[in-house]
Amino acid sequence: MLSARQVSLVKVVIFALGLLPMVRLVWFGFADRLGANPIEFITRNTGDWTLYFLCLTLSVTPLRRMTKWNWLIRFRRMLGLFAFFYAVLHFTTFLWFDHFFDVGEMLKDVVKRPFITVGFFAFLLFIPLAVTSTNGMVRRLGGKRWQLLHRLIYLIAPLGILHFWWMKAGKNDFAEPILFGGIIVVLLALRLYWRLAQHRREPALR
Ligand code: HEM
Repeated sequence: MLSARQVSLVKVVIFALGLLPMVRLVWFGFADRLGANPIEFITRNTGDWTLYFLCLTLSVTPLRRMTKWNWLIRFRRMLGLFAFFYAVLHFTTFLWFDHFFDVGEMLKDVVKRPFITVGFFAFLLFIPLAVTSTNGMVRRLGGKRWQLLHRLIYLIAPLGILHFWWMKAGKNDFAEPILFGGIIVVLLALRLYWRLAQHRREPALR
């Protein structure tokens, strides 16, 4: 068990580490190290970090169950918010540099290109999770309803993978989508397994 002070300390470390990819991008921007296509570099980098943080967020519960380190749950919200933060940067790069904040043109592009349609849908589903991530919102919604709403993450992660897969399909390059798709499948399958096991146990307990 971690003390309140240790939890705060770990939170500060996670916060600082979570900002590093963005700091690196800004640094690369100033140092003219974003390569021949800076927009593509930033879009891909922020997309990657959205996915990494999604995987980290989804890893918390399985890790906690396997290790019985219940304090891990204290860091899940921050990891989830970092996934959202990088999704916002990813989307803003697209809206800003690809469409110069012309929302109409951006929406046309979203409809025209299926891989972007899927990414956009995943992003829209992400918004209510970020908005309701505070303790006040948990209280206002009630634990049950809050939990139900936050199950949207089980949809967002596969949609993120489909978006990535579809994008890479054009290049016939499936290695990374298979790797991350595999990670998401394992993380979701573990939850399903535990839920089914619990259902099997419950009648016996009654
Ligand atoms: C949860 C939401 C999302 C996730 C997890 C995600 C993830 C990713 C990933 C992993 C990549 C590929 C990076 C690489 O090549 O290494 C990518 C690329 C891209 N995504 Fe997303 N994305 C999301 C939402 C969006 C949204 C909302 C948009 C725009 C409306 C978008 C537009 C793009 C574009 C334009 C690319 C780059 C395509 C290219 O360079 O050819 N994504 N995304």
